[in-house]
Amino acid sequence: MAPRLNLLRVVELLLVLCTLPNCHCSSSSSSAVINNDDFQGATTSTVAAVEEWKRIEEEEFEIGYVQSLRVNTPAVATVKSTYQTIEIYNSSHFGKVFVLDNCLQLTERDAPHYNEMLAHVPVMEYLAQHGDSASDALRVLVLGGGDGYVVSELLKHPQIQHIDHVELDEEVINVSKQYLPWSDAWKDDRVNLVIGDGAAFVKEQVEKGQSYHVIVQDASDPFWLEDDGSVTIAPSSVLYEPAHFERLYKLLHPGEGGGGGGGDGGGGGVLMIQAETYNIPSNLESIRKWRAQLQNLGFEKVRYGSISISTYPMGQIGFFSAHVFDGAGSGECRSNAACDDETTANDIVLDGMDTKSWSTVLAQFNKMRGKTLYYHPRIHRSSFDLPLWVEEEIYGSGVVGE
Ligand SMILES: *[C@@H]1O[C@H](CO)[C@@H](O)[C@H](O)[C@H]1NC(C)=O
Ligand SMILES: *[C@@H]1O[C@H](CO)[C@@H](O)[C@H](O)[C@H]1NC(C)=O
Repeated sequence: MAPRLNLLRVVELLLVLCTLPNCHCSSSSSSAVINNDDFQGATTSTVAAVEEWKRIEEEEFEIGYVQSLRVNTPAVATVKSTYQTIEIYNSSHFGKVFVLDNCLQLTERDAPHYNEMLAHVPVMEYLAQHGDSASDALRVLVLGGGDGYVVSELLKHPQIQHIDHVELDEEVINVSKQYLPWSDAWKDDRVNLVIGDGAAFVKEQVEKGQSYHVIVQDASDPFWLEDDGSVTIAPSSVLYEPAHFERLYKLLHPGEGGGGGGGDGGGGGVLMIQAETYNIPSNLESIRKWRAQLQNLGFEKVRYGSISISTYPMGQIGFFSAHVFDGAGSGECRSNAACDDETTANDIVLDGMDTKSWSTVLAQFNKMRGKTLYYHPRIHRSSFDLPLWVEEEIYGSGVVGE
C-alpha cells in the first residue's frame, strides 16, 4: 500500500502512536468561500459556493519538512476498524484519497506509480531470469497492500496462477472494495485472500514447506523520527527484521525437501519490498542496512529502485528487488555478468538487466492484459539509476565507471 501503514502486525504495538497532535500525520479543517467566477469565467453562475476542505499533513521532523494535501470534506467514508481509522476523501486533482489514522496512503491519481512498479518489476525479473523455462503457473505472495492495487496489477500477467494476499485489517479490504476502482481484484479465482498477520503467515508457510516464485511486501514504514528526535517503531518493523527476510528467502527457494508449488519453475524467485525514500537520512541508513542484510542471507542482485510519486513525502519512494537463485539450472549463470558477455561488473549494480532479459521483458509487456500508466520496460531498467550521491551512499564509491 504505502508509507505509513499499520496493517500487518498485531495491535498491541500500535499503542499510543498516533494520538494527535503528537503524531507526524495530522489534519486540519478549514473552509473557503469560492467564487465560481474565479474559475469559470463570467459566462457561468456568479453564485459563490462554500467549499469545505481540510489538509492531510505529514511532517518529517527529522528534516523539517511538511507535506500536505487538500481534500474535500466531509469524507466519502469514515470507518473505525479494530486497528485504525480508515477514511476515503475526494480531492480536486488527485481523485480519491485513502487515509489511515490521518496518514495518506494513496491517491487515485498517482497510486499507479508505486503499485505498478511493486507488481511488475519482480514478475518481469522472474520471467527474465527464467526465460523459456519459466513456469506457466506462477505462485505469488503479497503481504499488505490492503487497497488491492498490487494484486490487481499482478493479475495482468497470465502466467500468475495463484496469489496469496495477506492483510491484517479486513475492514481495509471492505472499504477498498466499496470505494476504489480496482476493487475487482479479489473476485478473481486466482486470488486467495487471507485476513491475518503477514509475518505469522510467512512463518507458517515456511513450516509447511511452501514456496513462491515472487513475493511482494507492500508494507508501511517500519519507523520514523518524532519531533524530539525519538524513534517511533511501527508495527510493520517486524517485516524488516533479518529473521523475517530469512523466511522470505526460504519461501523463494524451493530446493530440496520443501518444494510446494514452486518447484517447476526451475527454482529460485524474486523478492520485492517497499524500501523508503533516500531523501531522509535515517531512511537511507535503513536502505544500506537492508541491502547488507539481504545480501548476507544469500539474496543476489539486491538493487534499490526509485519511484517518482508526488503524494508521498519527498515525492520519491523506493524498493528493493532481490533474487534467489536455485542451484539447479542456473549454474554458471548466477549473475548478469556471467549471462551476458557485454555486461560489465558495474552493470550488475547499476543496471542489472542484460540484453537477453530485456527482450523477455519487452515481450511480456506486450502480452500483459490491460495497460499500465507508469510501468514500462525502460522505466523498469532506469529505476535503478540513482543520483550519484545516492549510488555512492548505497553501493559505496567507485561503482560508477569513469
Ligand atoms: C471529486 O472532486 C472532483 C473535483 O472537485 C469532482 O469533479 C468529482 O466529481 C468528485 N468526485 C466524487 C466521486 O465526488
Ligand atoms: C467485510 O465484509 C465481509 C463480507 O461482506 C463481512 O463478512 C465481514 O464481516 C466484513 N468485515 C468487517 C471487519 O467488517
